[in-house]
Amino acid sequence: MTNINTNEDIFTALTAKHDIQRKMCKDFQKYIDAKDRTKARAAFDELEAELKAHAAAEERHLYVPVMAFDEGLELSRHAIAEHHEMDEMMATLGDGRTGDERFFETAQALIDETLHHLEEEENEFFKEARKLLDVDTQKRLGTLYQAEHEAYEERHED
Ligand SMILES: [Fe+2]
Ligand SMILES: [Fe+2]
Repeated sequence: MTNINTNEDIFTALTAKHDIQRKMCKDFQKYIDAKDRTKARAAFDELEAELKAHAAAEERHLYVPVMAFDEGLELSRHAIAEHHEMDEMMATLGDGRTGDERFFETAQALIDETLHHLEEEENEFFKEARKLLDVDTQKRLGTLYQAEHEAYEERHED
């Protein structure tokens, strides 16, 4: 547990990772535009590792607590459904049998979906969730999120 900032609330911690994901999408986009599958695949592998660690930790430490409230059900379902869509695209991209045309199409769809998802979380879901969770809980969840993100990455390193 090396990089945990216990002052970061859950929304600050999540948004910091979103910024990293946007940067990764930008690198990935460059190689998609160049139709360079080898480099695109390497950029995808990095993005995938980050998105998976993020989604697991975000579901456990934001959406599960928010789902305890009636007002939190719909937004949590929506966000988790999008995580699932992204997972399916990542399975296609991670499969070496996927042809080039389908690979690049799916890669573009994953970037578009990821960027849409981050915007929607920041502009809608996090704003709603902030109203449901008290300040102490927001802080506690921020620490738990960061710890889980790191632990997930450690469990899934090759
Ligand atoms: Fe998410
Ligand atoms: Fe997120």
